[in-house]
Amino acid sequence: MRIDVVSIFPEYLAPLGLSLIGKARQDGLLELNVHDLRTFTTDKHRTVDDTPYGGGAGMVMKPEPWAQALESIASGACAEAGSPEAEGSSAGPTTKPVLIVPSPAGERFTQALAYELAEEDRLVFACGRYEGIDERVMEWAAGHFTVRPVSLGDYVLNGGEVAVLAMVEAIGRLLPGVVGNPESLVEESHSDGLLEYPVYTKPSAWRDRDVPAVLLSGNHGKIAQWRRHEQFRRTAERRPDLLAGFDAGRLTRADRTAF
Ligand code: ADE
Repeated sequence: MRIDVVSIFPEYLAPLGLSLIGKARQDGLLELNVHDLRTFTTDKHRTVDDTPYGGGAGMVMKPEPWAQALESIASGACAEAGSPEAEGSSAGPTTKPVLIVPSPAGERFTQALAYELAEEDRLVFACGRYEGIDERVMEWAAGHFTVRPVSLGDYVLNGGEVAVLAMVEAIGRLLPGVVGNPESLVEESHSDGLLEYPVYTKPSAWRDRDVPAVLLSGNHGKIAQWRRHEQFRRTAERRPDLLAGFDAGRLTRADRTAF
């Protein structure tokens, strides 16, 4: 997968060089390029914002620097040296890249969306700041990209960068080979519509608290049943909204007999 991120604060994206995602980049599983929007301005002050038409507080991001940046990314001119795009490989892209615009006014980012986006060949993230990006950019960009405004949750961040860190990590860890043991993706929270069961490690007794006896029993059937029960109990307690939307088709045969 190739990911391009456009921001006026490229340094904000530095953590994407660390840990699992940094390693995936080093291993060639993920190509990630960060672009400074200001390099696509033409004026002396490298202006990226202006006052909003109709009045109101704050500033709005000007359309032209965005069009320049996105055009050059869509054409592959911004690929990292050494990448197939930069080398001018013959086979052109067959589908439009997905342009993700982080915004509190977007569709909700979920694990299901992370899985969906992990199937794409190319993702582009446009980090807005201030009051947002001139709306015409989204209309224009639809000619080059599949445009998806996406929200991390019902709260407001100062810009898209923190949302991009979260989304790239959630998507990147689903790419083949990025997580060492793919089994761990199967059992984690949200992979099956429920929260994950609680986990414990040694020592079995710690500060007057014991690990649930069933986990020490060696009875794998009973352990699986206890974990599943804990998933439902936890989800009901912490996220009843998930349980309300839980698809009965996802109940296992064991669930049907146990609960
Ligand atoms: N930018 C500002 N707030 C945001 C949010 N909640 N999600 C995604 N991007 C944002």
